[in-house]
Order: sequence, then structure tokens, then C-alpha cells
Amino acid sequence: MSPSSLFSSACFLTIVTRAVLGTSETFCKRIPGDADWPGLDAWSQLDRQVDGRLIAAFPLAHVCHDPTYSETACTRLQQGWGFPDTMVPQPAEFMATWFQNQSCTPFTPKSTPCNLGNHVSYSVNVSSVQDVAKGLAFAQRHRIRVVIKNSGHDFYGKSTGKGGLGLWVHHLKHKQIIPRYRTSYYQGPAIKIGAGVSGGEASAFASQRGYRIVTGSCPTVKTAGGYSQGGGHSYLTGLYGFGADNVLEWEVVTASGDHVVASPVKNRELYWALSGGGGGSYGVVVSMTARIFPDGQIAIASMSFSATSVGGVDAYWDAVSVFHTQLQPLVDAGMVAQYIVTNDTLSLFGMMAPGFTGDELTTVMQPMMTALSKDGLATDSSAAMNLVVAESNSYYDLYAAKVMPLMAENSIGPVVSGRFVSRENMATNASAVNAALRTTTGNGRFIVAITALNATGPSRIVDPIASNAMQPAFKEAFMSLIIAAPWNSRSDPWAEAAVLQDELHSVIRPVLESATPGTGVYMNEGNWQQPGWQDVFYGSTYERLLQIKKRYDPEGVFYGLTAVGSEAWAQDANGRLCRTDT
Ligand SMILES: Cc1cc2nc3c(=O)[nH]c(=O)nc-3n(C[C@H](O)[C@H](O)[C@H](O)COP(=O)(O)OP(=O)(O)OC[C@H]3O[C@@H](n4cnc5c(N)ncnc54)[C@H](O)[C@@H]3O)c2cc1C
Ligand SMILES: *[C@@H]1O[C@H](CO)[C@@H](O)[C@H](O)[C@H]1NC(C)=O
Ligand SMILES: *[C@@H]1O[C@H](CO)[C@@H](O)[C@H](O)[C@H]1NC(C)=O
Ligand SMILES: *[C@@H]1O[C@H](CO)[C@@H](O)[C@H](O)[C@H]1NC(C)=O
Ligand SMILES: *[C@@H]1O[C@H](CO)[C@@H](O)[C@H](O)[C@H]1NC(C)=O
Ligand SMILES: *[C@@H]1O[C@H](CO)[C@@H](O)[C@H](O)[C@H]1NC(C)=O
Repeated sequence: MSPSSLFSSACFLTIVTRAVLGTSETFCKRIPGDADWPGLDAWSQLDRQVDGRLIAAFPLAHVCHDPTYSETACTRLQQGWGFPDTMVPQPAEFMATWFQNQSCTPFTPKSTPCNLGNHVSYSVNVSSVQDVAKGLAFAQRHRIRVVIKNSGHDFYGKSTGKGGLGLWVHHLKHKQIIPRYRTSYYQGPAIKIGAGVSGGEASAFASQRGYRIVTGSCPTVKTAGGYSQGGGHSYLTGLYGFGADNVLEWEVVTASGDHVVASPVKNRELYWALSGGGGGSYGVVVSMTARIFPDGQIAIASMSFSATSVGGVDAYWDAVSVFHTQLQPLVDAGMVAQYIVTNDTLSLFGMMAPGFTGDELTTVMQPMMTALSKDGLATDSSAAMNLVVAESNSYYDLYAAKVMPLMAENSIGPVVSGRFVSRENMATNASAVNAALRTTTGNGRFIVAITALNATGPSRIVDPIASNAMQPAFKEAFMSLIIAAPWNSRSDPWAEAAVLQDELHSVIRPVLESATPGTGVYMNEGNWQQPGWQDVFYGSTYERLLQIKKRYDPEGVFYGLTAVGSEAWAQDANGRLCRTDT
């Protein structure tokens, strides 16, 4: 039986039970084609209410399909497909390939119909609090699914949804430095940014005025969007903590259309939940005010080694193990390292060392280089591993020169997952962790992208602004792993995605979980099929988050796969979102 027919029979059973009990039918949100889907006149009325800012969705890749095929436009789109610069500026596009589900992509044959699939049906190009409130009211009146869409980077398709009305907040680009923010809970420099400001834009803006802000390593992720709402790790986390730890205020439109400020002293529960409890769950954020820091000295290193350079595959895995032992004191000194581990190569593309000069960084990395050379590398291991060190007096300048260019070609293939490795796992079971990485990458189908950090170590110079819903397991993590199957949308057969997903879910996940007991998965970088996601993504915060969700969004206006409260909903065989708990 296919999963969708399983679902229909479960749904059928619920309805039967209810009929017996004499209660009402399952509540489902509407999709196009339903009898009470709003007519064009109703949509036109909404369009007038939002000053002509309503956009009827059509998939970008329609240019690759009949009847609107255009060879030039299609070829251009194929070259940029999946990359942030192509997808982010579009009202209804999103990056998660699994949820694109080939409903309209540029690589299927021209004669394949282009369908909306999981795309929203309409988007409001949000410019104000009123636009959000009007959209929310319309959606509730007509039982339309609401989607908050920002950059579209979400791994679980939470920034899209069949039959949805998208609140597209990308154009909320306001930026302002507040040199002397003063409240009972913080005095000092702050930045206020609209929800649509990207990490790159916020960093550049802060940098021009002598400051640094905690943002992601990917410049196109939205700082006030799913990033800070879902936690947010940064190259600066060793000093300043996570994105969520630095939020001073959220400006929010709630499900009921109220425009409120949530801070450690006002609407405190909402502040607590929004600061780490997951994007798209409690309200629509229109702006965020955050603590910023004086800019200053910083260095970065990159290097790589491979089975070829260390003399064989076993020697390579020994070297990976040595690397991880040597990395621990470096992250304790405030560094954050990002690197890729494949079956035969480790590429460290960013070891960011705030507070260090280039010479100092070279010196503190010496023990690692020495240990790796004992482990089979040539005597001059620095040269053998292409060690390159650079420095600057500005975080943004260094980041923009060394890391940002690598991020433009990021995409989310259909099969991606995550896992934390805690410091305790390293102390008690480092060899099992190494073996699990080897098994994961062993057959050449998966790679692991790693962020190594110590968010709660001695290098941390500030506490969180206030108590928040930051995912507890992340505070204990030494590494956050992203496991991904490299994917070529042009040539890889779509059927292979389901095979890889099954391998990841049934084979790789248990191996990683077994070697890392007691940890979890970064809620923003996991797999949609994660069993027990409430605990794995949220840990001990889940129950309180669910209470806050019920208080601010009792009707379930906001939904996202794996978002707090989403277990009360499921899609039926046609993609309609239906309540399962009433
Ligand atoms: C290439 C790439 C690199 C990444 N790098 C990092 C990194 O370095 N550090 C890190 O921590 N994470 C990183 N991530 C994960 C990223 O933080 C999450 O995908 C995050 O949810 C993206 O948020 P967004 O608002 O930009 O994207 P979207 O997909 O638009 O939104 C994500 C979720 O947040 C909700 N949301 C967005 N805006 C709002 C709003 N204004 N109000 C309420 N809800 C909102 C959406 O409904 C959705 O549920 C990366 C992801 C990718 C794809
Ligand atoms: C993808 O499409 C297939 C066929 O229409 C459907 O059965 C499946 O549920 C869809 N998957 C997602 C993630 O939308
Ligand atoms: C959305 O609105 C902004 C102004 O707020 C405008 O610059 C942009 O062109 C609009 N985009 C679309 C697709 O309508
Ligand atoms: C690594 O995987 C690639 C395929 O991605 C394969 O060609 C290569 O032989 C593998 N190397 C080792 C050492 O297993
Ligand atoms: C952070 O560093 C401290 C001091 O070295 C160490 O005790 C702790 O285990 C580290 N925590 C993590 C999560 O790496
Ligand atoms: C160590 O890893 C092995 C293999 O994954 C696992 O069976 C064991 O429970 C782990 N032990 C600890 C203490 O983490």
C-alpha cells in the first residue's frame, strides 16, 4: 500500500468514528478546485485590500514547458536552477528539491505539464503590517493555508504549500543601527532589520558602521526569518552564541492580526518561543532588533587532505580522527570550523578565528598540523595540506573575500539530513563517531558538511539576552552534521531520490544515531522523515512551545512540516491540509 492510500484509510477511519459519535467532519484547508475555493472576485478584493500587491503564482520553470516554452529562457534557468540567486527573489519558489517534486522543473521534458504542485497559489508581496493582517484575515475567512515565505531556504518545504496564500516578506528591507539601545535587559549597540534582510545585507550594513552581527555562513539566509527563529549558528557563535541568543525584540503580526512587540519584558512567552522555537509557527515577524558587537581583528584558515595525500583510505580515516581530536581545543578558543568530509577528502574551507591575527592562528594550528604529519602526511604538512591563512580587521571583509563566493552555488538536493555530535560522544565514543562518518560516506553516495563549534565554552563573552527556546542539544554540540546526497538535477533520475532517501532514513540514520546517543538534530538542518522529531529537534522545550503555540495560534493558522504543533495536521491524498486531532 502506498503512503497516500494508507493515509486515506486512516482518515476514513477517523470520519467513521466521528459519524458514530455524531461530531463534525474533519477540518481541511481548501485547495484549488474545491467547491468553496474563493472565486476570482474574492481574490480581486484581497488584491485591492493589499494595494495591488497580490501575485497569482506560476512556477518559474514554466519557460521550459509547453505552451510557454522558450529555449533561451529555459537554458538560462537551467544554469541557475536551485541556486539562491535564482530562487530567492521569486515570490513562490523554494529551494527544497524533494518538495519541488518535479511538478515544474527545468529538466523534465518540454511536453511534461507544468503544475503548481507544492507551490502556493497566490502570494502577497508584503510591504506593511496591514498587508500581513489582510492576508491572514482572508485566509482564515476562506480556510486557505497560510505560508510565510522569506528566502525559501527551508529544508522541509515549510516556506511553501499546496493551495497556500504566501506572505512573501522578502521585500521588508528596512535596516537601522541603534548605537545606544537602552532597556532593563540590555544597554549597547543594536540593529533593527526588516524580516527580508539577508545575513549578507545585515553583515555588510553593520560592518560599514564598525559592527558585527551574528548571521549564518550562507549570505542569502534571512537573519530575522527561520535563521534566528530556529536558533542560528554562525562563524561568530564561539564568542556571541546563537542568533536567537542576541534578539532584543521581535515585531510580530499574530494569527489574530494583532501587531505586537515581543521582548524579554513584553509578551515574554512569545519572545521566548520565537527566539529558537522554530520559524513559521507563532506569528509573522516583520522586524527584529538584535544586539551587535564592535568589529575587530579576525583570521581564517583553510586546508584539505585526502586519501591520496595521506597514503591510503585507512590512513585517511585515521587522519580524520586526529583532525577531530585536534579541533576541540580550537573551537574552545572561539573558532568555528566548516568543512566537508567525503569518502576520500576532508576540505576545511573556513576555520574562522575571531580575535586572532594570521600569525597567531598559524601558531595555534601547529599542533594539529604536526599531529596530522605524524599520521602519514609529508614532513611539511602545512604545504601538503594547502594551509592558507588570511586576516583582517573586519569580520565581514574577511567573510566576503573568503567564504561568500563559495556559498553562491549552494542548493538543497532532494536527500538531506542532520545530526549533532556532542562533546560527550567525543569523550566516550570518538572511534564510533569516526566509524559512523566512514560508513555514511563509504559508498560514495553521501557527503557530510560539518560545522564544528563550542557555543557554551570559555570563549563566549556574552550571555543570551534572556531565557529563550534555543534547542538544548545544540548547546552541547561539538559538530552539527549535514548529510547530503550530491544531486545533479539535470542528469540524476528522479526515482533515485526516493531510493537515496530510503537509504538515508533506514541505513545511515540509525548508524549515526547509535554513535551519538543523547544528542539531536539542528531543527533547521534535518530530514522531513525524522522519527520523534519533537524530541530530536526541540528536546525539553517542546511542551512549553506547544502551549505557547496553542495560545497564540489556537486554530492552527501557521503550519509547517516538523514545526511545533504540526502533528495536529496531515496532508490528504490530494495535498489538502487536514486536522487529525479534532
Ligand atoms: C545553503 C544554506 C545554508 C545555510 N546556512 C546556515 C547557517 O550558516 N546557519 C544556520 O543556522 N542555518 C543555515 N541554514 C539553514 C537556515 O537557517 C534555515 O533554512 C532557515 O529556516 C532559513 O530561513 P529563511 O527565513 O531564510 O527561509 P524560508 O525558507 O523562507 O523560511 C524558513 C522558515 O521560517 C519561516 N519564516 C521565514 N520568515 C519568517 C517571518 N518573517 N516570520 C515568521 N516565520 C518566518 C518560514 O515560514 C519557514 O517555516 C542554511 C540553509 C541553506 C539552504
Ligand atoms: C510528489 O508527487 C507524488 C505524485 O504526485 C505524490 O504521491 C507525493 O506525495 C509527492 N511528494 C511530495 C513531497 O509532495
Ligand atoms: C514587490 O514589492 C517591491 C516593493 O515593495 C517591488 O520592488 C517589487 O518589484 C515587487 N515584486 C513583485 C514581483 O511584484
Ligand atoms: C569515493 O566515492 C566515489 C564516488 O562518489 C568513488 O568514485 C570513489 O572510488 C570512492 N573512493 C573511495 C576511496 O571509496
Ligand atoms: C566547551 O569548552 C569547555 C572548556 O574547554 C568544555 O568543557 C566543554 O565541554 C565544551 N563544550 C562543547 C559543547 O564543546
Ligand atoms: C558507542 O557507539 C556504538 C556504535 O555505534 C554504540 O553501540 C554504543 O552504544 C556507543 N556508546 C556510547 C557510550 O556512546
